[in-house]
Amino acid sequence: VLGRGLVVAIDGPSGSGKSTIARNVAAALDLGYLDTGAMYRAAAWWIDHQGLNADDSSTVERSVATMDLRVNAVPHAPRFFVEGIDVAHAIRTDHINEIVSAVSALPGVRKTLIEKQREIIKTARESTRGIVVEGRDITSVVAPEAEVRILLTADPETRLQRRAIADQGSAEGEALNRERALVIDRDAKDAKVTDFLEAGSGVTTIDSTNTNVSETLDAVMKLIDKTIN
Ligand code: DC
Repeated sequence: VLGRGLVVAIDGPSGSGKSTIARNVAAALDLGYLDTGAMYRAAAWWIDHQGLNADDSSTVERSVATMDLRVNAVPHAPRFFVEGIDVAHAIRTDHINEIVSAVSALPGVRKTLIEKQREIIKTARESTRGIVVEGRDITSVVAPEAEVRILLTADPETRLQRRAIADQGSAEGEALNRERALVIDRDAKDAKVTDFLEAGSGVTTIDSTNTNVSETLDAVMKLIDKTIN
């Protein structure tokens, strides 16, 4: 990898802790950081913002193909601008959670965003600085050539609890039930598009069910170290 930026690809379902891990890895190694889920969220936000119907596939695909999406791919303050509007907060609402799967399932939307993702990865490689890229199809479709490819998993109940705390502020009673309905619905829709629960050949599975953030980070850093040295 001398003279070439390192690419670390991390896939996994929501609640596996992949965003936290990916950001920490990028910060520790001084690499760029790309959250591809945020790009799908930005596309969903733009569709909704224009008052378009997420089910009108050809209009949605056309709109995303011409959307002006700028990405600041850094771990400390990753930012996303759609038509010049900073959407960092707007893409994290319950409403976007509900509509993003319908938008990300469209082949035309995936084609557009995968091209953008590959451009960002190419630039990072050429800069020799490298990048950590997280998503659902990075190890398999977007960057199968990445030096390090990881599937980060955790058992469904653990993921659900982590998500409930992140989204609802609690993993108890009503909050947990509300999150359960949302997560099960979204995972089922997303799994139809990309298989992010099975590691492909050459992809290392790291299970975070029984490890905290620093232990999981440690396992990922060891794997990277082993791969590049
Ligand atoms: O990781 P996330 O929850 O922010 O992802 C948002 C949505 O985008 C999720 O419903 C799955 C989809 N997604 C995808 O289809 N492919 C990716 N590489 C990343 C996310």
